[in-house]
Amino acid sequence: MKTEEQVPSRRSFHLTMIRLLGGLIGAVVAAPAAVYLLLKPKSDTGENLVEIASLSEIPAGKPQEVVYYRTRVDGWKRIREKTTAWVVKNSNEDAVAFHPACPHLGCAYHWDGEGGEGAGDAFVCPCHASSFSKDGAVLGGPAPRPLDRYVSKVEGGKLLVSSEIKKVS
Ligand code: FES
Repeated sequence: MKTEEQVPSRRSFHLTMIRLLGGLIGAVVAAPAAVYLLLKPKSDTGENLVEIASLSEIPAGKPQEVVYYRTRVDGWKRIREKTTAWVVKNSNEDAVAFHPACPHLGCAYHWDGEGGEGAGDAFVCPCHASSFSKDGAVLGGPAPRPLDRYVSKVEGGKLLVSSEIKKVS
């Protein structure tokens, strides 16, 4: 025969359920927090090279704006994004890929190779009129340094570009 203390009461059943529910809610909150705190976020090391052009299709000495897609890793997110590079091919084994933002304040510059208004045969930034030669050197304007370059290499006639930027001073 069970005593009165041994018989589970409605009150003790509710207390047990409340404790279980509290533990469950704690686990639901703690698990993502633990993952966030214990797992190291990934970052884009710039080591991933993306093939952006076949050099046989780019005329030598004439800068070309190449549009391509790359995957950027930002924390726990992988973002596929469209981007561009200005490519200057010197030969089928040698080319430079310039970052498309002006080193002054980041405007998009363009190649003025038609000898029209502006510097003519130069990269020209429309924001404050900086201009750069084909090899990225500053020709005029407020730009503090030459055009930034992507880390890149040529393999089998293909130009491979990293997201890492090399600043030339
Ligand atoms: Fe290009 Fe200022 S942003 S010259």
